[in-house]
Amino acid sequence: CRIVVLISGSGSNLQALIDQLDTPADIVGVIANRPQAYGLQRAAAAGIANECLDHQDYTSREAFDQALMARIDAYQPDLVVLAGFMRILTPELVSHYRGRMLNIHPSLLPRYKGLHTHQRALEAGDVEHGATIHFVTQELDGGPLVVQGRVSVLTNDNPETLAARVQLVEHQLYPLAVNWFAQGRLRFDAEGARLDEELI
Ligand code: GRF
Repeated sequence: CRIVVLISGSGSNLQALIDQLDTPADIVGVIANRPQAYGLQRAAAAGIANECLDHQDYTSREAFDQALMARIDAYQPDLVVLAGFMRILTPELVSHYRGRMLNIHPSLLPRYKGLHTHQRALEAGDVEHGATIHFVTQELDGGPLVVQGRVSVLTNDNPETLAARVQLVEHQLYPLAVNWFAQGRLRFDAEGARLDEELI
């Protein structure tokens, strides 16, 4: 299962995938939209093809996404994994990868779509929080849920300590979901994401 991972930053989720994916999952390419993304170094250290497509080189979202699609498709992926990829995708790109694009979001969706999720959970006084892996659809952070991981919110938590604990869960969750997809045990159909019964 040929996987392309898209990143924007440190790539700790990418690293978790590099460390924990089993065959048939195989990361064949990493693409960053920012030249300084440390995740590019992680890919290089792991001997994985990597490149930067700087969104600042493009005058429109559509032009960037067209170029991004061409670069992604050059790897002929079975799955595209967004790992801290901080871009809003155009409908064209989303529909092009329908059913084979995953994202990780640092909240228990459908709560806290968008940004600053840890701050918002703290302000709401939530006692639990977490991360969600979902299929990417036209709705931002709204696609069918694949799997969620939960953490307790501690009374002395701040956004940084909470984010750190959520990231530990993320780094377990994403390899699990991607391995399921690679093993053909995760389907995306009209009703949403389906997991083969024997996994439950
Ligand atoms: C992760 O916390 C993820 O939930 C969010 O952005 C962060 C990316 O971190 N989408 P990294 O680049 O994978 O370290």
